Amino acid sequence: MLVKQGPVKLSPLEVVLIQKYFELIFYRKLGPVLTKKFYKYLFIARPDLRDIFPHQMSQQNRKLAQSIKMLIEVLPDLDLLDKHFVRLGRAHQGLGLDDEDFRLFAACLIKGLEDLTKEPVIREAQVALIRLCLEVGRRMMSWMPLMPTRKKAA
Ligand code: HEM
Repeated sequence: MLVKQGPVKLSPLEVVLIQKYFELIFYRKLGPVLTKKFYKYLFIARPDLRDIFPHQMSQQNRKLAQSIKMLIEVLPDLDLLDKHFVRLGRAHQGLGLDDEDFRLFAACLIKGLEDLTKEPVIREAQVALIRLCLEVGRRMMSWMPLMPTRKKAA
């Protein structure tokens, strides 16, 4: 099932909260370290997903870090990344992603952030990140026609 929710507009406070968490990470060029941790948590939660990713993950870590960096930079106006969302939609075509997957994406990102900053992500920022991931998912998948899925066969 594709993401069904309507558009989410982050509040100015949510934008600041999210940017604050990523600011230092990108300043220190720790994006790929964050995404490496992200994938560690993703594969713990969903070992079945490991096989649809490349065996060697360093390039994937960098690609996801770059994508997240772009998102964080344009947060107040995600429309600026329309072309990127189309590319992402193509890259995720056929995976049958839904809200649950994007919530898990947010949860793994939050755990990765907590590992790097060595402190809990505050509740408001967690909610903002979940809302952001759901919105990114909606934008990625919205242009696409329904496609056959290659996961969740069971
Ligand atoms: C906020 C949501 C997400 C973002 C920003 C994102 C970002 C990316 C990026 C940048 C790539 C590389 C695309 C390329 O090669 O050009 C990618 C690939 C991929 N993503 Fe995501 N992703 C998201 C959500 C998800 C979710 C929820 C899943 C599955 C649970 C997923 C599974 C994959 C897979 C399987 C690949 C392809 C790996 C390969 O075959 O090389 N993504 N993603």
